[in-house]
Amino acid sequence: MQASADVNRRIARITAHLNPRTNNLKMEGSSNLRLENCRAKGGSPGFKVAILGAAGGIGQPLAMLMKMNPLVSVLHLYDVVNTPGVTADISHMDTGAVVRGFLGQQQLEDALTGMDLVIIPAGVPRKPGMTRDDLFNINAGIVRTLCEGISKCCPKAIVNLISNPVNSTVPIAAEVFKKAGTYDPRRLLGVTMLDVVRANTFVAEVLGLDPRDIDVPVVGGHAGVTILPLLSQVKPPCSFTQQETEYLTSRIQNGGTEVVEAKAGAGSATLSMAYAAVKFADACLRALRGDAGVIECAFVSSQVTELPFFASRVRLGRNGVEEIYPLGPLNEYERVGLEKAKKELAGSIEKGVSFVGK
Ligand SMILES: NC(=O)c1ccc[n+]([C@@H]2O[C@H](COP(=O)([O-])OP(=O)(O)OC[C@H]3O[C@@H](n4cnc5c(N)ncnc54)[C@H](O)[C@@H]3O)[C@@H](O)[C@H]2O)c1
Repeated sequence: MQASADVNRRIARITAHLNPRTNNLKMEGSSNLRLENCRAKGGSPGFKVAILGAAGGIGQPLAMLMKMNPLVSVLHLYDVVNTPGVTADISHMDTGAVVRGFLGQQQLEDALTGMDLVIIPAGVPRKPGMTRDDLFNINAGIVRTLCEGISKCCPKAIVNLISNPVNSTVPIAAEVFKKAGTYDPRRLLGVTMLDVVRANTFVAEVLGLDPRDIDVPVVGGHAGVTILPLLSQVKPPCSFTQQETEYLTSRIQNGGTEVVEAKAGAGSATLSMAYAAVKFADACLRALRGDAGVIECAFVSSQVTELPFFASRVRLGRNGVEEIYPLGPLNEYERVGLEKAKKELAGSIEKGVSFVGK
């Protein structure tokens, strides 16, 4: 009797890693062993995280890295294609998080229910010659649908939005949440971490330092001239010649295009993006846990400028964004850059807002 109970428990534990969720185990000799009876609440203490678009170029390495994160107890992988394979593969990693896969719109609500953090890299990426804005027509609708699901199933979750154009998809998400009456601006964050990761790397190359020792604030938004690295505020304090400033600013602003062109039609940044997304998600989870002093750049609802959304340094806490820092003193080059960034951002934000209003 005891032996059979042990076997059932072991099967239950293994089953919890398998998908799809509706595929309840029916085994000879075992009575009503259902996935719902398995480790449905997660085996280890930690947070429940969903990745929407988990089978994509970003989604897959992001899922792998989140499975390695000790703060995650349950990892839900949702996509409209290929999640069973990705889930089976990742679920074999001997780390604490329980992984479950969800396939297609009819499983979106199951994927989202009870989540603490939702990361969204769903949508199409750029091909050479395209701007992020060219993705708007497809990705706007995808983000709207996914955010409607979030409003319904996990309205208190922190949302990390990666799908481009971030400058428009974040306003879209905000409008969807407002319509549903669940909008909490502190919980909606556009992920601009890759711009910071690139800035740290490129600045370190110029200075001959370790990128892990560099911290470059990048403000504004996440597309072309809206990406504004504040090179006058790099830590540790350093100075650049005008030529270095122009080279670095341009390389940081065009880092995404550098990858799109090198991949020659096979997509945009995925591996460095997954790394950046995990760095950002980990910061959100540490803040949710109650860690103090978690400060990152993100594109959020903001009063730092006259625009309703803006990327700048924010302090994260149990409720998401708890403090938004002002831009600090800018030099003349940055002031000019800020005006250009604001002009373009205003149009992208408006485009997102009016998409939902239609
Ligand atoms: N914020 C950033 O810094 C940043 C950086 C790089 C890429 N991106 C953006 O991230 C997005 C994803 O890029 P990628 O390279 O992973 O693309 P990809 O095409 O490789 O993957 C996208 C995934 O989304 C899935 N998907 C499509 N419609 C969906 C829906 N309705 N619900 C759930 N999933 C859906 C696809 O099936 C696919 O698996 C793109 O919009 C890209 O521009 C953002």
